[in-house]
Amino acid sequence: PARRVLCLAGSLRRDSWNRTLLQAAVAQAPATLQLDVYDALSAVPLFDEDLEQREPAGPAGVQALRAAIAAADGLIIATPEYNHAMPGVLKNALDWLSRESPAGEVLSEKPVGVLGASSGPWGTRLAQASLRQVLHTCGALVMPTPTLFVANAASRFDAGGALTDLSIAQSLQDFTLAFERWMERMAPSFGRLES
Ligand code: FNR
Repeated sequence: PARRVLCLAGSLRRDSWNRTLLQAAVAQAPATLQLDVYDALSAVPLFDEDLEQREPAGPAGVQALRAAIAAADGLIIATPEYNHAMPGVLKNALDWLSRESPAGEVLSEKPVGVLGASSGPWGTRLAQASLRQVLHTCGALVMPTPTLFVANAASRFDAGGALTDLSIAQSLQDFTLAFERWMERMAPSFGRLES
């Protein structure tokens, strides 16, 4: 059976380059991977420990995201860069996901791949660095290489969102293939022992 990968864009913008990049990754991935792009990040409320105490299972939008991650073998995150860091909506979601819950700590020991697209010339290098640091803190198994930084995003896609830059299509093929291998290498930890 195909390995399932949840793909999360750290942007709420309808025409997000990062979501567009993930949709392109779906097209470039090996047939043995099933990539699903998550589309309900906007349902995740602002993290608040009082809210968490009132609703130990978490608000519905958080439960849905946790369940989608728990059901997947791996997670690929495409992050925008806001002021040289990941956007608040993504950090907010990670803060929820880092917490103990009835669904467990869903990022702990989860294989995660990181990429990103920005309209500027550096292609989310600093956002990805900060994202990696947070993911390590959450116990995720972050794929070290290959890296994928899409700079000047507006020049890489046509009006319909299809990739016009064939080198990025190749990079997405290499990235998704490497991520499949990464999940295989991390496989012994998939059946995590309950403590
Ligand atoms: C940006 N943008 C940006 N780009 C970049 O390369 N480095 C940066 O530090 C920033 N900072 C920044 C701050 C804020 C508040 C905004 C709104 C934007 C531009 C950013 O790359 C661009 O808006 C992307 O299109 C965002 O990604 P999505 O939403 O298209 O996926």
